[in-house]
Amino acid sequence: MKAVEYPIGIFDSGIGGLTVAGAMKKVLPHESFIYFGDTAHLPYGEKSSESIRHYAAKIVSFLVAKKCKMIVIACNTASAHAFKIVQDVAGPKIPVINVIDPVAEYTAKNYHNCAIGVIGTKGTIQSRVYVNRIEKMNKSLKVVSNATPLLAPMIEEGFYNNSISQTIINNYLSKKSFSGIDALILGCTHYPLIKKEVDKYYQKRIEIIDSAAVVAQTVKQLLEEKNLANATVSKNKHRFYVSDYTDSFEQSTRIFFDEKIDLLEARIWDQP
Ligand code: DGL
Repeated sequence: MKAVEYPIGIFDSGIGGLTVAGAMKKVLPHESFIYFGDTAHLPYGEKSSESIRHYAAKIVSFLVAKKCKMIVIACNTASAHAFKIVQDVAGPKIPVINVIDPVAEYTAKNYHNCAIGVIGTKGTIQSRVYVNRIEKMNKSLKVVSNATPLLAPMIEEGFYNNSISQTIINNYLSKKSFSGIDALILGCTHYPLIKKEVDKYYQKRIEIIDSAAVVAQTVKQLLEEKNLANATVSKNKHRFYVSDYTDSFEQSTRIFFDEKIDLLEARIWDQP
C-alpha cells in the first residue's frame, strides 16, 4: 500500500472526537480513519497532566502500529497537555494536529477589539492555553474562560437536548464573567453536541465557535502540503476502537458516520 492510502489516526477520551471525525469525513471523502476513544479513562478533564500524557502516548503508539499517516488529537484536554509527547511518539514523519491551535488562529484572525469566552474541561481551562495563545496573537482581544466539568460526562451519558442539560448549560453560561462576550469557543470536542442548547441560551446574539469544521480544514490543508492526500476513494473502511465498550459510543458513531461501522474493543491497557 502507498503512504497516501494509509489511514488518519484520531483520538479522544470518548465520543467527543467523533464531532471532529464527522467534519473530517465531509471535507475528506477519500480518506479512511482509525478512531480511538479511550472510554476506559474518561473523563480526561479531571485527570492529572501526567496521566493524560501517559494515556496519549500509549494510544499514539497503537495508532502508529496501525500505520496511520497523520494523527489528529481530537481532544482539547489532550491537546493542552500532551501535544509534545504525541509528536515525540509519532516521530518526524507523521504530522500531528491538535484541536486548539487552529481555533486559536481562527479566532485571532477573525475577531478584533472584543471579548471571547471559552468553555472546556478543568484540564483545558486550568492550562490557560486558549487565553495565552489568542491574546498573544491578537492583543485587541480579551479572553475569558470558565471550566464546565459536568458537560462532557453528561454528554457521554447521552444527556443532551433535554431540560436537565439545558438547566446545567444555562447555569454555567450565566456566570458574571461571561456577561459581555461577543463569541464563545466550545473548547471541548464533546460540546458540538450541545451547540443547539448553547444557541438557545444566547438566542443567536453571539457566534458560537465550534472547532470541528476549523480543524477539518486544517487537516485537509496539511495533507495537501505534505503530499499525503489520497487522490482516490480509500478502499479501507473507517475503524473505531474503544478501550471499554459503551452503548452510547456505538450509537453516536452511527449518528456521525451515517454508515455501518465496525466498533472494536482494544484493551491496550492490559498489554505491557
Ligand atoms: N473531549 C475532550 C476535550 O475536548 C475531553 C472530555 C473529557 O474526557 O473530559 O477536552
